[in-house]
Amino acid sequence: MATPKIDWDALRSAAREAQSHAYAPYSNFRVGAAALVDDGRIIAGCNVENASYGMTLCAECAMIGALHMGGGGRLVAVVCFGNDNAVTPCGRCRQLLWEHGGPNLLLEVNGEPRPMSEMLPVAFPEHSVFEN
Ligand code: THU
Repeated sequence: MATPKIDWDALRSAAREAQSHAYAPYSNFRVGAAALVDDGRIIAGCNVENASYGMTLCAECAMIGALHMGGGGRLVAVVCFGNDNAVTPCGRCRQLLWEHGGPNLLLEVNGEPRPMSEMLPVAFPEHSVFEN
């Protein structure tokens, strides 16, 4: 499958739209994540908190759920927003993203695309697991 062209503006818009669905009454930090899938789809997710505070569901988790519900696929590029700013995914979510995009998945960081190999170096498991 040819890698689709990355429309970063469309990803930013999808992440901003996803923020409007956030359930974040405890932190008031509304997060939206959006990704381009290798088949050209754009998927998104929002954070969903609960009264335990610690067991919050990050926006990236919801987005990965959407990926599987939509038939799966590999992530090509990801953008996340928290309130008014672009944010980078937390450690747990970097692991999730790594498993669904591998080392070449691009994350937007301070307006620049950076590969997962930089954002989660020496990751477990090695990316050879994802080949084939
Ligand atoms: N959050 C995300 O949704 N994604 C991240 O990568 C980091 C943090 C959420 C979790 C919680 O609902 C809020 O941001 C404050 O930490």
